[in-house]
This record gives sequence, C-alpha cells and structure tokens, in this order.
Amino acid sequence: MLFRVIYFLIFFNISWCQYDLINVYPGTRMSVNDDMFVSASNAFYNFAVLLYPFRNTTDGGSILCNMRYNTTDRFVHSVAVIGIAKNSSTNSEQFMFVFAAEKISTMSPYVCIGIITKSTCSYSYSCTDMGITGSHQEYFLIGVDTNGTYAYGFTSLFVFKLDIYADKIILNLTTDSVWPSQGFIPHAMDMADTWGVVAGYGYADENRNNYGTLGCLIDLSTLINASCISVTNESTFLIPSNVVLYNDLYELSVAIRGNKILIGILRLSSVVILHNYGSSLHISRMHILSFLSSNSVCRVVDWADDTTIALLVQDPFETSWSTTQIFFYRENSVTLTSPIFTFPNNQQIIGSRLSRPSFARFSITIKGNMAILTDKADILIIPLASAGYTSSWIYNIERTYVFYFQPKLCIGGTYKNHSSLGPCQICPTNTRNPGTFSYEITQCISCSNNSSNSFCPLASLADITNLTTISSYSQAVAYPETADTTDIEDILLKNIFQIGNDPHCLLISPVLWTIIASALCFLFILFIVTIDLCGYEPCIKYSKTMKKIFKHTDIIGEGKMWIGGLTTLAIIVLVSFSYWFSASFIRRYPIENIFQSAKFSCDLSLVNAQFSTGLVLLAIPKSESAQPIFDLLDKQIFNLTVELINTGFTCNSITAQENLISSKYVPLIIDCQQTIITATTSVTFSLPRHLTTIQINISGPYWIGAIRLCIRGHGQISGSNTLRELDFCEFYSTPNQAISRYTYIPIVFVKNINMTQSLNPTDPVLYSGIWMPTFTTVPLSDEEYYLKFGNYLRYTSSATILQIMLDERPFYIKNIQQPIVRTAELIFHSLLFTSLCIELFAFSFLFIKLLIKPICQSIVYLFKKIYHRIFLLNDLHSSNTNDSISKIQTHLKGSIESGSFIYENNQRKNSKTCLTSQTELNSIETISKL
Ligand SMILES: *[C@@H]1O[C@H](CO)[C@@H](O)[C@H](O)[C@H]1NC(C)=O
Ligand SMILES: *[C@@H]1O[C@H](CO)[C@@H](O)[C@H](O)[C@H]1NC(C)=O
Ligand SMILES: *[C@@H]1O[C@H](CO)[C@@H](O)[C@H](O)[C@H]1NC(C)=O
Ligand SMILES: *[C@@H]1O[C@H](CO)[C@@H](O)[C@H](O)[C@H]1NC(C)=O
Ligand SMILES: *[C@@H]1O[C@H](CO)[C@@H](O)[C@H](O)[C@H]1NC(C)=O
Ligand SMILES: *[C@@H]1O[C@H](CO)[C@@H](O)[C@H](O)[C@H]1NC(C)=O
Repeated sequence: MLFRVIYFLIFFNISWCQYDLINVYPGTRMSVNDDMFVSASNAFYNFAVLLYPFRNTTDGGSILCNMRYNTTDRFVHSVAVIGIAKNSSTNSEQFMFVFAAEKISTMSPYVCIGIITKSTCSYSYSCTDMGITGSHQEYFLIGVDTNGTYAYGFTSLFVFKLDIYADKIILNLTTDSVWPSQGFIPHAMDMADTWGVVAGYGYADENRNNYGTLGCLIDLSTLINASCISVTNESTFLIPSNVVLYNDLYELSVAIRGNKILIGILRLSSVVILHNYGSSLHISRMHILSFLSSNSVCRVVDWADDTTIALLVQDPFETSWSTTQIFFYRENSVTLTSPIFTFPNNQQIIGSRLSRPSFARFSITIKGNMAILTDKADILIIPLASAGYTSSWIYNIERTYVFYFQPKLCIGGTYKNHSSLGPCQICPTNTRNPGTFSYEITQCISCSNNSSNSFCPLASLADITNLTTISSYSQAVAYPETADTTDIEDILLKNIFQIGNDPHCLLISPVLWTIIASALCFLFILFIVTIDLCGYEPCIKYSKTMKKIFKHTDIIGEGKMWIGGLTTLAIIVLVSFSYWFSASFIRRYPIENIFQSAKFSCDLSLVNAQFSTGLVLLAIPKSESAQPIFDLLDKQIFNLTVELINTGFTCNSITAQENLISSKYVPLIIDCQQTIITATTSVTFSLPRHLTTIQINISGPYWIGAIRLCIRGHGQISGSNTLRELDFCEFYSTPNQAISRYTYIPIVFVKNINMTQSLNPTDPVLYSGIWMPTFTTVPLSDEEYYLKFGNYLRYTSSATILQIMLDERPFYIKNIQQPIVRTAELIFHSLLFTSLCIELFAFSFLFIKLLIKPICQSIVYLFKKIYHRIFLLNDLHSSNTNDSISKIQTHLKGSIESGSFIYENNQRKNSKTCLTSQTELNSIETISKL
C-alpha cells in the first residue's frame, strides 16, 4: 500500500489533497440493504461486499467477497446497493450495486455497475463515463430507488438517471434545470420508490449572497424542478468555501421512511423531521441536541423503525468502546435525557481489537438491521434481535475487517419484550431473570410476594429468601458496666440481709435461715424452761447439762449464759451463709470465665468485677507489658471477602488491586467463587496492610444487588496476650435499587484492648485485643443520576468499581477489668462481718436488757398492782367500812415504799398464784442476766 501511496504522491501530487484515499467520512462509502452490504476502500482499491449480511449462521451466514478495483486510477465517491439482480435467470446468483467514481488522472467522473456472483465471488464492472474531464467533484452522490431499477447521480454540475438493467443513462441534466436555487451543492440524499430527497446548500435568494440549508424533493421520473425548502432559519452567513469544498462540520444526512424524512444537520447539532405531502416537503419537528462533551451530533441520521430515529454522536469520553455512539430516540422525544438506548452499550460492546473506533457511517435497513463503517474501514454487522435477545459482539481472533454481532439470550437480570437493535432492559424490582434458561425471557419472573423475607432488588437474578446468608454480623459488644455498688461491705450486707420474694431468692436468703434457726432455738429454750418448771428431777438434770453445754458455746456473754450459746447457733448459720457467699463471690472473676449464673445470690448476674473504659491516644507510649498486644494487633493478617449479591458477574471478570499513590497500583491475588443458584460471587484476598485502599474492578454488563464485606483474621495467643479472632460482615444495599457503578466504602478500625487484672496481685495482667470496624453510610445507588441524566446511562458503562478504604482511628479503646475484692481483702471483710454479726446479736441482748426488761418489769408490776387493788376492794366491799379503805391505802403506800408489797401479797395468796409470780420473776431475772 505504501508503494501505491508513493506512486500517487509522485504522479498525482496536484490532486493529492482532493483525493484523500484513506478518509472514509466524505461521500457515501458504504451502502446496505437486507440482501447486500458494500463498502468502498480507496486506500485498498477494494470493495468489501457482504451477501446476506444479516443472515444467521444456522441459515448459512453471510458471504464475504472482496471486489478489487480493476484500476488504481479510481476514486470512489459513493456506493449504493441494489441487491439481488432481478434479470438474473440464475436463481438469485448475481448481486448488483452502483458506485460513483472519478478517474483521478483526468478528473473525469463516471458511474459503474458492479455485479458479483454469489457462489464464486467472481465480479465484473460496467462503467459509463459522464463525458466531462478536468472537473473534480467534491460531492458525487449516487442512490438507487427502492424498486432497484434506476440509479440516480447528483453533483453540483450534473444530474443523471441510469437504467441499471439497460446499463444506459436515460436522463443527463445540468443542475439549472433541476435545482431552483442557483449554485446548489448536494451533500446527502435518500431515495424512496418514486421520489427522493436531496439535502444540500444553495443560495436561498436571487442575489447569490447567502447560502442556506435546503431540503429538496425530487420526482424521480423526470428529475427536473425539485421543490426545495429551507430546513433551518439561520441569520448567520455561511462561508461559501465551507459548503463548496468538503468540510466535515457542514455535513448533512438524509433518511426516508414512509413519507417521513430525517435531515441531520451536524453544524447545528440538530435533526429535522419533515413530511412529504406529495408535491412539497413540510417541516414537522426540529430537535436540537447539545451534548456538553460532544462537538459532533447528527452527522449521520437514520430511521431504526417507523417511529425510532438513530443519531450519530461523537463523544470521546462517554464510553470505553468507541469514540462515537449511536443514540436511539423516539421520533417525538429527542432530548438529552430521553435516549431509549445507545450503541455500543455494556451488552453490545465493541471488542478492544478495534481500539475505540469512531463511526464514519451507519445505516439501518428497512427490516431494522444495522451496519456500521468505522473510520478505519472496519465493518460492524448488527442484526435486529427479537424479543428476549440482544445482538452482542462475537469475539474472534481471525484477521478480518468484518465484525459480526449475533443475537444472544438476555443476560441474567434483564429481559426484552420487543425486537430491537438495543440491549435488554433490567428486571424491575421484585422480578428476576436467572439467565440460565435456554429460552427467551420477554417478561421477568416475579419473586416471592413477601418482600420482607426476600431480597430481590432491581436487575435481580435470584430470589434470595434466606436473608441470614447475607446479613451483617459483628463481634462488637458493649463493654459491661460496673454495678452500682463496688464496695464489698455493701455487697455483703445487701446480699446477706436481703429477702427477695421470688422462690430462689427466698431459698438462699441467710436471714430466713437465721430466723428459722432462731425459732428452733426459741422452741428449745421454751422446752428447757418448761422442764425446769415441771421440776421433774431427771429432766432438771438433763436441762442443767444442756445449759452447761450451751454456756460453753456462748460467744455473746463470754460463756455466762446458756441462752447465749443457743443464739450462737443462729450466728453460725448467718456467718456460714456469709462465708459461702464470699467464697462463691470471689470466684466470679474475670467475667470471661463465668459461664453460670450466680446461684448464691438473688442477683444472678452478680460478678466480682468492676469495669472502666476509655479512649487513649495511640501516640501515647505504651507500657512494656502492654506493647506485645499492640504488636499482635498490628501483625494480624486481614482477609477481605467481598460478596457480590444478586449479580451475574463471573469470576474472570473480577480483579482486585491495592491502590498506591498517584494512580499506581499493585494487583492482588484473589480467590473467587461463584454460586449460580444464589447469584452470588465472592472474592477473597489477603490485605497487604491494614491502612490501605483496595479497589475491585468488575467488568461486564451485569448489576449488583447488594454487597457484603467480611473481614476475617486468625486469632493468636502469646503468653498473657490474646489476639482475638476477627470475623465481621457488613451488608450494603439500597432498598429496591442496584449498587452504583462506582462505590466508595470507608471502613475505620479501632483497636479494642481489654486489660484484665488478675485476682492474685502478683500474676500478670491479661491483655486481649480485637480490631473493631466502624462503618459509615455511603451513597450506594445511581438511581438519582439516571433519573436526572437519562435511563440509558445504566447501559453505557460496564466497569463497576468498588473502592474500600481501610483506616485506623488515632486512638484505641482501653477496657480495664479489675476485681471488686481480692482474697486477702475478702478474708478481712469476712472476719469483720463475723464480728459484726456477733455484735449485732450482743446488741440485741443488750437492747433486751436495757429496754425490754425494764418495760416488762413495769408492766408486770402495774398489772399486779391493779390486780391486787381489785382484789382488796372486793374484800372491803364485803366488810363495808370506809375506815378500812383508808387503812389499806396507808398500808399499800407503806408496802410500796418498803418494797415488800409483792411478798406480802404472796403470803396472802394461795400457793398457785405464788408459783406463777415466782416463775415470772425467774424469767425476768434470766433475761436480765442475759
Ligand atoms: C435464523 O433465522 C431463521 C429465519 O431466518 C430463524 O428461524 C432461526 O431461528 C434463526 N436462528 C437463530 C439462531 O437466530
Ligand atoms: C475496468 O472495467 C471496466 C468495465 O469492464 C472497463 O471499462 C475498464 O477498461 C477496466 N479498466 C481497466 C484498467 O482494465
Ligand atoms: C451529458 O451532457 C453533457 C452536456 O450537457 C455532455 O457533455 C455529456 O457527454 C453527456 N453525458 C452523457 C453520458 O451523455
Ligand atoms: C419496479 O420494477 C419493475 C421491473 O423490475 C417495473 O416493472 C416496475 O414498473 C417498477 N416500479 C416502479 C414504481 O418503478
Ligand atoms: C439459611 O442459611 C443459614 C446459613 O447458611 C442456614 O444455617 C439456615 O438453615 C438457612 N435457613 C433456611 C430456612 O434455609
Ligand atoms: C486468609 O487467606 C489465606 C490465604 O487465602 C488463608 O490461608 C487463611 O486461612 C485465611 N484466613 C482466614 C481467617 O480465613
């Protein structure tokens, strides 16, 4: 090829600029219908001819033929396909097309019919010279009517009509007889059956001072007197050289469907929809599009079907597959956010071997199939896909310039209910497509009706009903708080003198048991006293022995009273309970080793531990004993598991990397598992360090319903330091929406260090440490973006990026656990408590002695006195003398003064009364002795 280029440089250097062999943008270097595709490559002197370009492989696929120019002295301006030759008696063997060319050496335009035989790819040309030399044509358009019988050529100089099968020019006209406006330069055209539309620039007024953009309706039978209308209403002047010579910015495009015509005006980024009402054109709509990042909109336009239009948009930054895109719109809704879909998209990519091409031209056939010619003269063939299918790129490594797309079933999470060139749409919330069926999905399957126990967001593949498999869990627990009382004496007193009302509490209540013991003792006292009073000799002897024994056990009256000895039993009961309590209580430390509830106490959660917690700056130097736990924590290896839930992404579309400074990164080795049933793909890898940013790159057309991040790390025990096993998972999702294409999740770790002081002060302090993650809510959904900028954007990106930033807080949580009481202290307190009990009982004796005894004595005395008086009064009443009353009064007074009253009384009473008084006295005596 280089040789040929040099050849041209040498021999045709004058016309080099006019004949840019490589550029495929000007003219129409590609033409397609449902039977045939032709593209012309002046650089390779070749026509690429595809017969049955959209036929599927089961029907035999398409046939590719290369049709060499039979001369290098040819510059092809435009091609137009005819298709299967109608005159051919040889059973649809021959295919035809026409092209408009120019002899470079003489600058003479000519038109040729190319004929190719299907079975052999043998070809021939039949050319007709226009009879003009030395006139280079900037625009030499050619078209064929839909019947395929005539070809029509348009230039700024002449217009002709060619009878294809007769191979004869039947009309040869000058432009003056065709175009009403002078100096008309045709830029684009399309043909219907009996009429055609040519768009170009011409002088809109008689004075030839201002070019206007015109759309002209041509009657194909005569070609004369086209009816032109101005399709724009601009006030600016157009520079003639821009429209006369080829200038990409001034390109126009025409497409006809039915009686509707599209005219694309690149310069104004607009598309005009016109109607043909028989004799003239009428503008029905004009849409202006201004994409921020695009400087080229509507260079090529076409009808995708009767109501859908397709526009070529140059947008170098929008997608990674090409620098141009084809936007598909509803005819009457063409706004920035209203595209139905764009091509390419994440389900219809263009392989990287084409290295982001730009589309020079595309065309959609009457059946809705599309062909694209790229700037590097590669050809893309995209057949219309029926409902449930989308045409997608076929990977191949062959040396070819034709790249086929093939209808494939909708991928998981999507469906398509109509035939189109576009991608499948995502399943709405609460419906799904597992993507595993062998038949087409025109409607997504509904998920379980009960949305509370099923996870089925937008673009779902599976109905996840077992939410426990995807839920968050954490090892973080609230550090216990110290109980109200941390004073051992308070705890002892509270627990010993407490009588709860629940059965367990009552059963272990020391007070209850002491009362029972006291009651038994009291009964025993009564028993002893009774046998004393009966005076039966053996019993008295027995009681004496008992009293002697009890006197020895008396710890209250220091061995003086036998009742004191009995009371000692009650004291022993009480003190024993307190020892039991103390012994059990001290063992309830540390709380990590407590597995049973405190049966010895009313409060079942009673522990011998007090807690304190606080935040300490990491920068503060650590003690020698504390340093190892920090080292262990810092050395723990984290395994990060990223679970992509309700997604169709496969393992080989996922990579992970550690981001370094300024867009540098290190790839990480991942371990990936995909579970088709639950539509979950999980990636696990070890984090190279704790404070880092991890990026997970996922490529492919799928969506993600939710993400669960799990960080795990092995535990380790080293001496008195315990590094606890790390295991937590956090679930990220937005209700009913899919995860966005770019997600940034920060996780901040805090070291959590538990210091447990030992019961024995000489034992080392136990350290245990664990990493605690804290999560923040992050925006997870792109829904608002799609709402604002267009739903089609869902399908324009296939890179899903998940960034996880791990950081550590500059402080750590320090939890200290220490016993409320240690052994020595408890022994001392128990002793104190024992003496307290003894004191209490002694006090009660003292109380009886000092208060109860005198009161009892007074009561008894008063009672006797009243009794005696009533008795005496009765006596006096019988003798009936007033003197004797006063005598008795005097006597009584005397007796009281002398204290002999009781004894005097005694002598007066019978022996039984006497005995009772004696007993009472004895008992009072006894009590006072106590
Ligand atoms: C191929 O096309 C035929 C009809 O032309 C159709 O019946 C068949 O299903 C197609 N096959 C595939 C794989 O699309
Ligand atoms: C190419 O083919 C056409 C049509 O058959 C013929 O007129 C022309 O002379 C050929 N050119 C060359 C260089 O053979
Ligand atoms: C067409 O007409 C022009 C003059 O009007 C003439 O020079 C040319 O030869 C004609 N071409 C053909 C193919 O008849
Ligand atoms: C279409 O072509 C056939 C012959 O191929 C012809 O008889 C018929 O008149 C043509 N129709 C039109 C509208 O030109
Ligand atoms: C849900 O998943 C968990 C963990 O895999 C499993 O233990 C449990 O049995 C499952 N529950 C049901 C209802 O399948
Ligand atoms: C982390 O991953 C490594 C290698 O994949 C594995 O050997 C190790 O057991 C994992 N650790 C945990 C806690 O799962």
